[in-house]
Amino acid sequence: MDADVAEQLAGERVLLTGGAGFLGSAVRRRLEEHGCDVCVPRSREYDLRLESEVDRVYRDMQPTVVIHAAAVVGGIGYNRDAPASIFDDNARMNLFLLSKAREHGARKFVGIGTICAYPKTPPSIPFREEELWHGYPEETNAPYGFAKKLLLVQGQAYAQQYGYNATHLLVVNLYGPGDNFDEASSHVIPAMVRRFMEARDDGRDEVVCWGDGTPTREFLYVEDGARAIVRAASLYDSPAPVNIGSGYEISMRALAETIADVVGYTGTIAWDTSKPNGQPRRLLDTSRAASEFGFRAETPFRDGLCRTVEWYERARA
Ligand SMILES: NC(=O)c1ccc[n+]([C@@H]2O[C@H](COP(=O)([O-])OP(=O)(O)OC[C@H]3O[C@@H](n4cnc5c(N)ncnc54)[C@H](OP(=O)(O)O)[C@@H]3O)[C@@H](O)[C@H]2O)c1
Repeated sequence: MDADVAEQLAGERVLLTGGAGFLGSAVRRRLEEHGCDVCVPRSREYDLRLESEVDRVYRDMQPTVVIHAAAVVGGIGYNRDAPASIFDDNARMNLFLLSKAREHGARKFVGIGTICAYPKTPPSIPFREEELWHGYPEETNAPYGFAKKLLLVQGQAYAQQYGYNATHLLVVNLYGPGDNFDEASSHVIPAMVRRFMEARDDGRDEVVCWGDGTPTREFLYVEDGARAIVRAASLYDSPAPVNIGSGYEISMRALAETIADVVGYTGTIAWDTSKPNGQPRRLLDTSRAASEFGFRAETPFRDGLCRTVEWYERARA
């Protein structure tokens, strides 16, 4: 437990949307450890894409703090197949959640944003928060990234006009136990873990990965991500967005080799260059999170990956 966080957050009634999801579950555990009363609206009870349902959530739960982590998310294939619903669903949820938070008197709103909001090729690497608007996002992620960017702009407008305390965190790709391993909608780490495990178990000697292996990505262990969000919720009161990452960059080729090694797959790895690479490089400058609320990622990549693989081996058994 972080004493500085507990001092600020203990006794708060926190509305945590998406609190039963991959990231949300880790945030929920951490908030509860710090003495918060956490309310999680499930989608089967409250469809947060509907204004009337969002109103009802606030009436029923009367939170003092909101952490908005609900979203429709997926990997590159899912973003290619469903860009319209990804944009619509996320934009609607974001708009209603923040506007109603203010109307219903929640004192603080933390929006969970994404690295996908960044331009495809920002002017410098690592990506700095100041460069968020210097170019169009990578095309496959743009509808998702823009729906999240609307929430940032909305929060900054509310801060300016109403003095409202809205914060926005730009979270890098997450991984860890509890991730989504569904074939159609998973992100790259669970998708590769699953494919390498199945090839290992079936005795296949080739696994084909998308793209040419050159793009780089940064990954943050989900428990580190949850710690960052809870620290920001308690210690950061500014509408200026903050990058949340690990500062560790790895190429897709090195990622595939590391996953194959951890999983125990010994065949070859082929690259299907007819499939998209996505954004060429992804690496965040994480200095603002360190200076503003003392967050630094702690989990070494390989340790986090081993825990993820162990979890999935158990879960599928
Ligand atoms: N995973 C990543 O790598 C990553 C990276 C950067 C940012 N993020 C952000 O982190 C947040 C959580 O992502 P995640 O990966 O943990 O996703 P997730 O496991 O899919 O969780 C998303 C949650 O959103 C809720 N939700 C979706 N549609 C809803 C609706 N119409 N009404 C109410 N609730 C709804 C779902 O609630 P139910 O379970 O009740 O259906 C679900 O638990 C998102 O804002 C995402 O954009 C994630």
